[in-house]
Amino acid sequence: MDYNNIINTIYFSLEKLKKNGEVATYIPELAKVDPNKFGVHITTIDHQHFSIGDANEKFSIQSIAKVLSLTLVYKKVGEKIWERVGVEPSGTAFNSLVQLEYDKGIPRNPLINAGAIVICDILVSSFKDPKTEFLTFLRAISGNTSIDFCARIAESEKQTGYKNVALINLMKSFNNIKNDIDVVMDFYYNLCSIEMTCKELSRTFLFLTTDGIDPISNKKIISESKSKRINAIMQLCGFYDEAGEFAFKVGLPGKSGVGGGIVAIHPNQYSIAVWSPRLNKKGNSKKGMKFLEQFTTKTQLSIF
Ligand code: DON
Repeated sequence: MDYNNIINTIYFSLEKLKKNGEVATYIPELAKVDPNKFGVHITTIDHQHFSIGDANEKFSIQSIAKVLSLTLVYKKVGEKIWERVGVEPSGTAFNSLVQLEYDKGIPRNPLINAGAIVICDILVSSFKDPKTEFLTFLRAISGNTSIDFCARIAESEKQTGYKNVALINLMKSFNNIKNDIDVVMDFYYNLCSIEMTCKELSRTFLFLTTDGIDPISNKKIISESKSKRINAIMQLCGFYDEAGEFAFKVGLPGKSGVGGGIVAIHPNQYSIAVWSPRLNKKGNSKKGMKFLEQFTTKTQLSIF
């Protein structure tokens, strides 16, 4: 497969498109990002790399990190986590409060904000020093010891995190949050603040293409069954109320973040990360979605 040629063709055809879509402004630090950044990186399971544009520039991965906190908690605690968070697509915005009261404080899935906050609560209960534990895990799976939280972004989110605070309080009222709210939110804001490049991101998600075993280090990150289930959750819930659209047009399990990043994986083939900060109304990268749609069309590789 000539990935180089394919990503070049799509990249330059999309560069010509009208520059529409807006960067996320509800987190002040994200509003400062150059909206015209555009990068793509593919890592294949046989260790080949293909890259174009701003693929080596760090950006805020935001909600993409929720897959990695889920992975660590699922590995540590196992199937019991599903007593506190569901596995159904939400069909609502990532920070929506509406379903949570009907569902008695049990979030629909671990990739919307409410579900990710419950996962953070379980993480805080499970480790003495959750931040260090998470960073150690992330550095191990990414093979990169320089990956870190970004205090500037975490603080910016904290200052404007009114909806997230509402979500955690509502869940606490239903007894689905066991720890101190400030401690859990501090972990959540730090989790969302992590910065990575497209290259680092695609390499980090490689273990989900190969049944939980990292094909570069040969280390088992998570069991085959859990890897399969995390992929299923990404497929159904990775793009909030646009998950159906992403499955329809791109057809891969993936996850987006309001920093404009998207990571998607093709089992037994590759992991791909795209970054373009201009978002559509659902909070997903406009160009990122278009790029991946054309990429899976031109490669003619499908999981279905
Ligand atoms: O809690 C928030 O609003 C952000 N830290 C994460 C949002 C996000 O990335 C959702 N993505 N599409």
